[in-house]
Amino acid sequence: MGAAVQSFAVDAALDSAIEEAAERIASARHVVALTGAGLSVESGIPPFRGPGGLWEKYGEPPLDGYQRFLRDPAEAWRERLEPTEPWARGLKQTLERAKPNAGHEALAALEQAGHVAAVITQNIDDLHRQAGSRRLLEIHGNAKLLRCVDCTGRFAPESVAIDPDSLPPHCPQCGGLVKGDTVQFGEPIPEDVLAGCTEQAARADCMLVVGTSATVYPAAAFPLEVAARGGDLIEVNPFESDLTPVATLSLRGPAGAVASRLRERIDARPERAHG
Ligand code: APR
Repeated sequence: MGAAVQSFAVDAALDSAIEEAAERIASARHVVALTGAGLSVESGIPPFRGPGGLWEKYGEPPLDGYQRFLRDPAEAWRERLEPTEPWARGLKQTLERAKPNAGHEALAALEQAGHVAAVITQNIDDLHRQAGSRRLLEIHGNAKLLRCVDCTGRFAPESVAIDPDSLPPHCPQCGGLVKGDTVQFGEPIPEDVLAGCTEQAARADCMLVVGTSATVYPAAAFPLEVAARGGDLIEVNPFESDLTPVATLSLRGPAGAVASRLRERIDARPERAHG
């Protein structure tokens, strides 16, 4: 069982918006979810922006993290293995402890029931995968994986020889340079994932956007494309975001409680074929 859903009272206005969202999702042809850090807040992982956000507390990270990595991969690996920044140490421990919450579980259940075709996540915390999402596109990578810069192979850390006295490690497949799978600022999104996201966004006639400020591209462009084509844009966020002005519906509440209620309402609807 994931992190408990904090008790949140769904008022009548939100409840009727959830009902309308359930109708739109149940009758859509191809629903794609786009998720961000807000979905994992109820798993104990702070967001980047907004109240309690990491960047609010510690300031924005350097926007050339990838270039710094390429300049001195050994130093970057030493920082990865033994973070010196307190916030990086804290985030590493939080990611190790975090469990999926009701929001992750609701999205996995909607995929299994055939209502959600794919999840595009900006989160690197692996919680969607742990909750059971399978058609998952991790556009910013996965903090629990390593990736080869040269052949783009992805590996579990235990399958790469990492010797603290001889960093950086090298790819078991091609001998190339290995880094964390997390996409750093200044790093191109791996082509295979970007192609998958672009294809899913192009097919979507409804996008369920959960817990993102929609300020980082290319992920933030996908919901705008769906809305521009006349598709439904349903936002789950306790606060306004850059998408609010173009959203069909904004469900103003926390992801766990709202996505769980949404899933219940969709499950309760008479069976309708998708498409
Ligand atoms: N449920 C749903 N949404 C929430 C919750 C919650 N319980 N708590 C906060 N939010 C919302 C905030 O209102 C905000 O709009 O989640 C959003 C989090 O926004 P960001 O912190 O900017 O996270 P995200 O949109 O995922 O950032 C995108 O920026 O720093 C980079 O690579 C990083 O993937 C990240 C990208």
